[in-house]
Amino acid sequence: MDPRIGIFDSGIGGLNIAAAIRQALPSERLLYFGDNAHVPYGERTAEEILGFSTAITEALLGKGCRSIVIACNTASSVALVPLRERFPEVPFVGMEPAVKPAAEHTRSGVVGVLATRATVEGRAMADVVERFGKNVEVIQQACPGLAQRIDGGDLDGPQTEALLRGWIEPMVERGIDALVLGCTHYPLVRPLIEHIAGPGVRVIEPSEAIARRLGQVLAERGLAASAGSEGSLECFTSGLPGRFDAVLKKLDLESVSVRQGVWQADGSLLLA
Ligand code: DGL
Repeated sequence: MDPRIGIFDSGIGGLNIAAAIRQALPSERLLYFGDNAHVPYGERTAEEILGFSTAITEALLGKGCRSIVIACNTASSVALVPLRERFPEVPFVGMEPAVKPAAEHTRSGVVGVLATRATVEGRAMADVVERFGKNVEVIQQACPGLAQRIDGGDLDGPQTEALLRGWIEPMVERGIDALVLGCTHYPLVRPLIEHIAGPGVRVIEPSEAIARRLGQVLAERGLAASAGSEGSLECFTSGLPGRFDAVLKKLDLESVSVRQGVWQADGSLLLA
């Protein structure tokens, strides 16, 4: 049996990444965990985020995963480096805000990034801005409350729209022509974001690039599934499994099963 790939996020956002991986690497066996009981990670301390990410990684490894995709910008920003140190034999693929393609695209010289508070304040954001944002102005906008609304299923209601307008319209006034979605929940409201930003702004999110990167990593480490084998996607959530239905349908993944993952009193995670 081919090894599994573990994928996790604070909730439903990483399902975008799982869908892109499913598309790009259809032979791979994917195991997804959404920590909906603890969403939003973006409003939590680094210590909490690292604790959850470590326990989730241990549970996914316990289910036969040999590589891990941190399909959450917030968790990647806090936990990617410490997890690589703690599990040196495990290849990790993490997210970083896609400032590089935005800087390559911009003609106005002004790009925007929407992300959680923890990501905006974290080291990974400072790093990508320093590496790729030298000749452009990068407007970083924290979006408190947005991931939680999306996780709760409000993808186009008036409150979600009002929040987005309050953040995006001022950036458009400042001349952005590229807008990076620096949180994996935000592509689920991409139509609304595009509508508010208008036709002059390209919206950029990295799910396909992450799937390609994972393919390279698996090939380098000799962990790719055997050619022609049939891949799969199974999901666990620490919240209500039924909450995944709408988003799985939206991503054309409605046949995927979703089971309950349970946090234990000792801080470990049980994926039965
Ligand atoms: N989906 C997550 C991210 O990419 C986190 C959202 C949250 O839990 O705050 O940052």
